[in-house]
Parts: sequence; C-alpha cells; structure tokens
Amino acid sequence: EEISIFRRSLLAWYDIHKRKLPWRDWHDIDTNIVAYRVLVSELMLQQTQVATVIRYYETWMKQWPNVKSLAEASEDDILKCWAGLGYYNRARNLYKCAQLIINEYNGEFPNELETMINRLPGVGRYTAGAVSSIAFNQANPILDGNVIRVLSRMRCIGSDLKKKSTTDFLWSLATDVVCPERPGDFNQSLMELGATVCTPQKPKCNECPVQNQCLAYQQQKEIESILDIEQ
Ligand code: ADE
Repeated sequence: EEISIFRRSLLAWYDIHKRKLPWRDWHDIDTNIVAYRVLVSELMLQQTQVATVIRYYETWMKQWPNVKSLAEASEDDILKCWAGLGYYNRARNLYKCAQLIINEYNGEFPNELETMINRLPGVGRYTAGAVSSIAFNQANPILDGNVIRVLSRMRCIGSDLKKKSTTDFLWSLATDVVCPERPGDFNQSLMELGATVCTPQKPKCNECPVQNQCLAYQQQKEIESILDIEQ
C-alpha cells in the first residue's frame, strides 16, 4: 500500500544518493559507541550546518572516541573543542550526559526513548528519536526542520506551526511513516531529502523519489504548503 511504497522509494533513493558523512556508515561497531557518535553528531547538527560540523565532529572524536573518555575530560578542553560552534550549552550537556552514563548507567548508553528524554541533559524528543532509531534500530520518529518541510509538502498541510495541534499532527505523521525495518536509515533519508532535494525554495521535484505521493507537487503548492514554516 501507499505507505510502504513511500518507504521503499525513499530508502532506495537514500541508498544511492546519501552523502558520505563521518557519522554514517559504521560497520560492526558496538551500539554503545554508535549511540555516542549519533548523540555527538546530532547535538552538533542542531544549530549548525553539516559542512561546518564535519571538521568539529572529527576533531572531537579523535580526542574523545567514547563516553568514558569524554566523562574524564575537563570542561575547559571540551569548550575549547567546541569553540566556534556556539550554543555552548550543547557541549556542557554532552559532558553531563557522559558523566551520567558512566556514573549511573555503568557506562552503558540507555536505549529507551523515555529514559533518554527524561534523564539525559539536552536530549529531547528529536535527539532521542535519532539515537534510538539510528543506533538502536527502534522505530521511533524524528521531526526537525527538514522533516517538517518534507511531510508538510507530502500532505500539503500548510497550517500554522506555532499551534501545538500542528506539531502534534506532524509528530504522529512521522510516527506512522517511519519504516520498522530500517528506522535509522529511513529517518535519515527524510532529513536527507529535505536537505538536498525538498529544499525550502525551488525544490528539485523532478529529482524526488516520492514525487508521485506528494500532494503539494500535484497541486503545485510546493511553496504555499510550507509558507508558515519558513517565513
Ligand atoms: N541533520 C541532522 N541530523 C542529520 C543527519 N543524521 N544526517 C544529515 N543531516 C542531519
């Protein structure tokens, strides 16, 4: 049915077109380290562009390749490594997460969505969704600016994002579409489509793998359907 075609088309596109990024494509690494990498990359990516994050991410991982090494670092060194990225609370929260995981979880990254949200400083629904789907293969949704734009266009929503009912609706939509077999890749494929094809202005609809399922495309409302989001 429709939703499985949507998932399949998007994943097939992602497998071919995904950008090579240093926090992707780990092979046979233990989930504890994958979770840590996803946490670091997602927090860095929250307010900063991919192109900028790459260098910071690589430097960070060289210095602190796992939770334990980060927990044993000094806050001074951590803030120095973060210098230039801004929003320094993200770095402080990462440090606190590492200490909490060492002190209260015996060094094991908690793998439950609710635990991450409730216990890990700076980790909200988006970050917990990313870590749980990418690192732990759990079918939890994510919703960031890119995903909001993609889903809003697919369903031609165009309603006020400041309303809680709109974000609630988008979260439930993101929950319904996430692919249970490959949740991490699927969530990243939504973000990737939004970043590279389903862009705010002049979306490249002719390159879109899910053009057939896009209501905004059918109604030629690619811009109107997201007006309230980006303006
Ligand atoms: N932006 C936020 N998370 C991302 C990810 N995992 N890959 C690419 N861009 C992102």
